[in-house]
Amino acid sequence: MQQSISCTVAEAADFLRARLPATPDLALVLGSGLGELADEIESPVCIPYGEIPHFPVSTAPGHAGRFVCGRLNGRLVLCMQGRFHYYEGHDMAAIALPVRVLKALGCKALILTNAAGGVNWDFSVGDFMLITDHINFMGANPLRGANDDAIGPRFCDMTQVYTPAFQEAARRVAAQQGIALREGVYLGYMGPSFETPAEIRAFRTLGADAVGMSTVPEAIAASHCGLPVLGVSLITNMAAGMAGKRLSGDEVIEIANQRGPIFRRFIRTVAGELPL
Ligand code: 6GU
Repeated sequence: MQQSISCTVAEAADFLRARLPATPDLALVLGSGLGELADEIESPVCIPYGEIPHFPVSTAPGHAGRFVCGRLNGRLVLCMQGRFHYYEGHDMAAIALPVRVLKALGCKALILTNAAGGVNWDFSVGDFMLITDHINFMGANPLRGANDDAIGPRFCDMTQVYTPAFQEAARRVAAQQGIALREGVYLGYMGPSFETPAEIRAFRTLGADAVGMSTVPEAIAASHCGLPVLGVSLITNMAAGMAGKRLSGDEVIEIANQRGPIFRRFIRTVAGELPL
């Protein structure tokens, strides 16, 4: 007999709570180009995922896979430096677990960031996109299987996954910092291959503005447990068939590093201004 989800969550949360300096106000998942934001945290406390009960084992050794907790722009934040991707082979429940643990620890908001490919022709490489909604095209859902009613309902409403008041705060900060913040729909793709040009044309017709390999499972898990979400994508490249050249993971990293400082300043300020 498998242990209930809330039991697993509680054991991981208890372990973390014993190590954290206090209850974090909000949590951040740092995507490509944002990992270094964790280095800006004052008096950081770091907890590698590998030490936490029930946490998945990362398939990418050497990659920073840890929580970093401390003060950022006046707020006590808990950062995920490194996340779990479906394409790595983790099951959806493993990707949902950290989000549920963040909720159990008392976090009042979750900022999800990622590197994504631009699907909307109006976008350019280096743009920031506020996620207003998503399309789950991953072929899986983290809520599949027995539901734990202590965490959330069997049938989870998804009408307003990305909290309007958080979106408003992000727009305000972008305007202050002279950032032309794009907005749109993020489509989650399983990966790890990039999409074909035909798939990108299809996704544009479906209403996607950006495409990536993360964020959607975490956003679903957050909705389910009642954790309000802000999502922001860094457009590191235009999607397949749009730029007259092939795609590479190296380009994603290169642009993420290039735009990293501006992206981090934006997210740091937003983290301080979200209405919690
Ligand atoms: Cl073009 N596709 C996906 N699925 N993920 C990406 C991407 C593209 N660019 C960055 N991440």
